[in-house]
Amino acid sequence: MYQSKIAGLGSYVPENVVTNDDLSKLMDTNDAWIQERTGIQERHHIKKGDGNTTSIMGAKAAKIAIERANISKDDIDFIVFATLSPDYYFPGCGVQVQEILDINTCPALDVRNQCSGFIYALSVADQFIKTGMYKNILVIGSENHSGGLDFTTRGRSVSVIFGDGAGAAVLTRSNHNGQGILSTHLHSEGKHALELSLKGPSTNHWVPEIIAENPQGDDIPYYPYMNGQFVFKHAITRFSEVIMEGLKANGLEVKDIDMLIPHQANLRISQFIQQKFKLSDDKVYNNIQKYGNTTAASIPIALTEAWENGKIKEGDLVVLAAFGSGFTWGSAIIEW
Ligand code: UT7
Repeated sequence: MYQSKIAGLGSYVPENVVTNDDLSKLMDTNDAWIQERTGIQERHHIKKGDGNTTSIMGAKAAKIAIERANISKDDIDFIVFATLSPDYYFPGCGVQVQEILDINTCPALDVRNQCSGFIYALSVADQFIKTGMYKNILVIGSENHSGGLDFTTRGRSVSVIFGDGAGAAVLTRSNHNGQGILSTHLHSEGKHALELSLKGPSTNHWVPEIIAENPQGDDIPYYPYMNGQFVFKHAITRFSEVIMEGLKANGLEVKDIDMLIPHQANLRISQFIQQKFKLSDDKVYNNIQKYGNTTAASIPIALTEAWENGKIKEGDLVVLAAFGSGFTWGSAIIEW
């Protein structure tokens, strides 16, 4: 059985910065509310004409990760792409990245697990490396939220939270036993599927049907819906559970954590976990203040930034954890 490790990381966010004050010109919101409830100060949004899409941003992040992994694009054996905001209904973004980066005919898979997407994608990649089937796997999380949000007051409880961006990792077969991904743990609970969802357009809610169902246009299923407090309560429980599950499976304890990188859903959620586990500030990495919630991209962006800032060193125990729509949740325990 082989072990996988992260050999290269990269991230990309569009240049266009949107502050809370910018949003307050579009809807009834304000900087104080957004910062108090979420910790977010600003986020990046794709600007019309800047050339970015979910797959293009993913490819930009992936290119950096490949360079840093010191491999060639031709060494990539598999592409796993996590997103909830693909460029097309089909095909997925994985094949588009393959085309943009001119990668050979390796397989490409899209993962649809929203905020947990990167951890699910990492877990899939890890299994393929463990079995010896593949050696180098490109794992990408990328989102273009701004293209699909309701920027009127009606959508304010959702649209102030999300930002655009991408992060990527090259997962490689590890040469040192014990170094790399120690475990991944994944969960889902479909009974809460619609508590954080985008119903259509889909095969079940096609455009004419949506219009017929909503002649007044007041309940619009083609914008995301989130039952915020319900999601929040489940998030703090599941984050804690799945971190402990991962630690226990490896005979580790909370005190062994050198760096926790939680999915950047809400600063209040990260702070709750930090306090519950009594972790000092230098052991939890947050950057939601600058990027908002970038869903599948949030962990790889944060991981890249933490690594670039020298906050992760060889031998450190790094814990990744996420919770989101599905509901889905998961953790990855990594010895760096
Ligand atoms: O990443 C996937 C997982 N996602 C999460 O984990 C998100 C979990 N949920 C949350 O982060 C929080 O529930 C939110 C940040 C979404 C909302 O915070 P909240 O403290 O739960 O606020 P609320 O939805 O209960 O709304 C409180 C008030 C309401 O007004 P009333 O009814 O008290 O008069 C809202 O209408 O705040 C109002 N409100 C806003 N006011 C200003 C909602 N959105 C806004 C806004 N600006 N953007």
